[in-house]
Amino acid sequence: RTVYVNGDYLPEEEAKVSIFDRGFLMADGVYEVTSVLGGKLIDFAGHARRLARSLNELDMKAPLTEDELLEIHRELVARNELVDGMIYLQVTRGAADRDFAFPVDAEPTVVLFTQSKPGLADNPVAKTGIKVISIPDIRWGRRDIKTVQLLYPSMGKMMAKKAGADDAWLVEDGKVTEGTSNNAYIVKGGKIITRQLGNEILHGITRAAVLRCAREAQMEVEERAFTIEEAQAADEAFITSASAFVMPVVEIDGATLGDGKPGRVAARLREIYLDEMR
Ligand code: PDD
Repeated sequence: RTVYVNGDYLPEEEAKVSIFDRGFLMADGVYEVTSVLGGKLIDFAGHARRLARSLNELDMKAPLTEDELLEIHRELVARNELVDGMIYLQVTRGAADRDFAFPVDAEPTVVLFTQSKPGLADNPVAKTGIKVISIPDIRWGRRDIKTVQLLYPSMGKMMAKKAGADDAWLVEDGKVTEGTSNNAYIVKGGKIITRQLGNEILHGITRAAVLRCAREAQMEVEERAFTIEEAQAADEAFITSASAFVMPVVEIDGATLGDGKPGRVAARLREIYLDEMR
């Protein structure tokens, strides 16, 4: 595999970053995951825009222009002959003597790599759905910034696996914020309900596209928080992310939704979204 590190395309074995990198020492960095289907980047512009915002919120200068980033994404797809999969991009504040205060002169570290996932859009799980459990949302208060602080989301995934489920929904003040690595939705009486944007959740690029698709298809959308109890009583539920697209949820904390099969709205949105994006 060819990866990108600070201006160079290298075999992955030769790629190196400093042990003093603040991404490594302090999780002082941000990332993006962009899907690739049939060699085409899915919603690159959305991811580039969010990256710029994340960097700005953390007072980090943008190391590359959007055009340069696009060029690197395309180059990696070509060099790795990537058909279906994803591109991971990470920007950290760079290497500096360990100090909590931001260094004044560190150069950001930029790393990109590809991950091949053949048949990504035909994931058979979309036909059966996933099970989620709920856990408390104890993450920091700026979840709108896509930082590399992923320890609690990783722990959440492990808690879900241990409980025989696939993922966890995070709950704060009695309401669902989002999934460990995705946005959360329920459907009741044909209406799609998902939490409103704010600092409490990541502003999903897939969320924005899926809500646009839903509105264009005359589906009703309500952006507000919901409880686990309301979700368990919903007709259907689903999650969205760059890697899962639209994925149905069929069980929440052991309670089966509807007939236990993926819902119609989720299936339809998945189809519309994939049709529109690729
Ligand atoms: N996760 N919420 C969280 C906490 C996320 O980590 C993600 C993305 C999303 C969905 O955002 P988007 O639609 O822009 O992918 C919501 C990525 C896929 C990951 O960490 O792998």
